[in-house]
Amino acid sequence: MPAAPTPSDARSARDAHVGPHGLQTRLIHAAEAANQTPAVAPPIFQTSTYRLRTPEEGAELASAIAPATFYTRYGSPNEKQVEALLAELEGTEAALAVGSGMAAITVALFSSVRAGDHVVAQRTHYTSALTLLTDTLPRYGVETTLVDQTDTAAFARAMRPNTRVVYTESPTNPTMDLTDLRAVAAIAHEAGALAITDNTFASPYNQRPIELGCDLVVHSATKYLNGHADVTAGAVMGSRARIDDAWEYLRLYGAVLHPFEAWLLRRGLLTYPLRMAAHNRNGLEVARFLEGHPAVARVHYPGLESHPQHALARAQMSGGFGGMLSFEMRDGYDAAYRAIGRTKVCVLAVSLGGVETLITHPASMVHTHQSAAQRDEAGISPGLVRLSVGIEDVADITADLDQALAGGGRDG
Ligand SMILES: Cc1ncc(COP(=O)(O)O)c(C=O)c1O
Repeated sequence: MPAAPTPSDARSARDAHVGPHGLQTRLIHAAEAANQTPAVAPPIFQTSTYRLRTPEEGAELASAIAPATFYTRYGSPNEKQVEALLAELEGTEAALAVGSGMAAITVALFSSVRAGDHVVAQRTHYTSALTLLTDTLPRYGVETTLVDQTDTAAFARAMRPNTRVVYTESPTNPTMDLTDLRAVAAIAHEAGALAITDNTFASPYNQRPIELGCDLVVHSATKYLNGHADVTAGAVMGSRARIDDAWEYLRLYGAVLHPFEAWLLRRGLLTYPLRMAAHNRNGLEVARFLEGHPAVARVHYPGLESHPQHALARAQMSGGFGGMLSFEMRDGYDAAYRAIGRTKVCVLAVSLGGVETLITHPASMVHTHQSAAQRDEAGISPGLVRLSVGIEDVADITADLDQALAGGGRDG
């Protein structure tokens, strides 16, 4: 059996085969070296195990790092194919595809810390990541200090001699606050710590954390990377050595990306740049529309000049500002609650980054398990509505919002 291709094999084969083409071309061709069949659309290796020629081959593969054709928890050809694309996206040497965004965060953090280490993170993160940082890590002897992400100096003040990781996320959900990723990565490195960032919201089309100095990037690939609301997946991108460490933890933790999901994620990624360009266009247009709407008090979108960190957004979100935004209804909770019940194009559902526009009301939905004080701390006001702007015809999105917002707090 030939040696299993790795993502970096795929990258060098691609360089020889395709050359320095644009992102869209590279994504379409990046996985070719990892597809060892003549099929243009690679087959799905729907198997949990692989035939071994000899016991010695079994022994060799059992101790290999990330073999593609041994046992599917260790890897699969479909996983290798999608990892080649994921590494392309963030411009890293290697990538690891995993079973969910939370698996990516868990694998990145647990493979980087040990008991006695300290982590600096933000007060606002995706809520399950925050639970992992503040409830789970301390149970394993790892302490976390949380800081205001908009105050770069606060990261420097929180560093300790045993700080091993600085964990960031920019922009954050749902208030769209930014972290100065370049400055914070420099603070981490000065103290000998790793800079790990969750790039799910901005997405690599718009923001390139590795170029800003980060060491590891994590993603919920469930969102923009897949883009079609039909896969739960995650990704970790970084140097070969760090991804190998992450793989070793994943092998034990077991949150593998299954072959069919890997195949679907690869298919979703083939149109990623086209989709992101449309999300960026629609996001900005919807944000401007809402900013001028009489029922709306405030819009949080990094692409608007009214965003308090717009200058930072222009500097670090070099490709665009994405499709995520939130806005505050002038008439508070009731107005927001009624508006989300009236939309016809915008779908009432959690998650984000898909082709369809999704709408949520954090105060009555995902953040109900938090106290009012915790919601205040996270900037979740009663009238806040979050939108993941999709790629529908933008006039249909704004017309839908217009009819849903009409009349403020009254039933319409
Ligand atoms: C920013 C961010 N990171 C991570 C996750 C977790 O991803 P998953 O649901 O794929 O585990 C989410 C989920 O919403 C998210 O919004």
